[in-house]
Amino acid sequence: MRSLAGYCRLERGGIWEDPVRGHRVGVLDATNRSEIAGMLGGRSAALVVSDPPYNIAVGGRRSERLLDETLVDYLAFSRRWVEATIPAMAAHSHLYVWLGADQFHGFQPLADFMILMRRYQELRSRSFISVRNQRGYGTQRNWMAVRQELLNYVKGSPPFHVVYTDIPKILRGYYKTVGGERTENLERGRSPTIRPGNIWVDIQQVFYRLEENVPGAYAQKPLKAIERIIASSSDEGDLVADFFAHSGTTLVASERLGRVCFTSDVEPVFAEIAIRRLERFRETGKTGFQTANPFPEMGTAAGLPPRSQSSS
Ligand SMILES: C[S@@+](CC[C@H](N)C(=O)[O-])C[C@H]1O[C@@H](n2cnc3c(N)ncnc32)[C@H](O)[C@@H]1O
Repeated sequence: MRSLAGYCRLERGGIWEDPVRGHRVGVLDATNRSEIAGMLGGRSAALVVSDPPYNIAVGGRRSERLLDETLVDYLAFSRRWVEATIPAMAAHSHLYVWLGADQFHGFQPLADFMILMRRYQELRSRSFISVRNQRGYGTQRNWMAVRQELLNYVKGSPPFHVVYTDIPKILRGYYKTVGGERTENLERGRSPTIRPGNIWVDIQQVFYRLEENVPGAYAQKPLKAIERIIASSSDEGDLVADFFAHSGTTLVASERLGRVCFTSDVEPVFAEIAIRRLERFRETGKTGFQTANPFPEMGTAAGLPPRSQSSS
């Protein structure tokens, strides 16, 4: 049987051009400035969504010395991808970075990454969002760990559009006098539902029962989260970029919201999965594969690891 690479249309360095909407999918290294610039081809992104590996499960190595070295390496990796990303951003643009904090190791790498980002004068910190996962761990001995961190930086002054959740407003009683009339907050609001704020509690983690699930993609982000980022922080027709494509969530979200997406992953298998997910969406309207193998021509799901219980 062929290895998975034999089922991928792209090799390392290759770029697929979408004949329908102009999206691009590459097999590129996010830390390689010239590879990223090559895919951009002189264009710049209004929004970059970055979901790099988090550096949290480090093979059970617990010595501080090892952790220091790992962290140093991780920060060098972070510096390289950030420095390849900044030139890809338009003069007025958003950057969103998904990260995690290892609570048993000084909250690395989140804290270190935030400090690292202060060196880039062209970026300003804008929001520190926490997304609440439904499934947590450690409830018997500790506070249940349910958060994922999402950092928002901006270059220049990009647009920001107000978006709403589906959560009804239930708290009344915040009175204010407007034009001589005493009004209560529910009367004043523009929407019957609340805004997400910087704590998102309404997003289901991806798991195998969901249509959007992509078997083998162990760190897939929910479409709802990426769509919220795209809707709030870019305009229709804009170029959205994601250099850690994995299951292609940013690609499919861009397609659904009328943006053009340039995305890449260092692994040919994930670039192929992203393209296949887009093609499947166009053919069937389905946002993922649920439990079906994205490589049905292989016959079995061999080679595709099952989704782990904890996602990054
Ligand atoms: C956390 S996942 C991204 C998940 C994605 N947001 C989604 O919803 O499916 C990280 C991805 O980064 C890729 N990756 C790791 N190092 C990379 C590098 N140097 N350049 C490009 N991609 C890399 C991995 O192959 C993996 O697919």
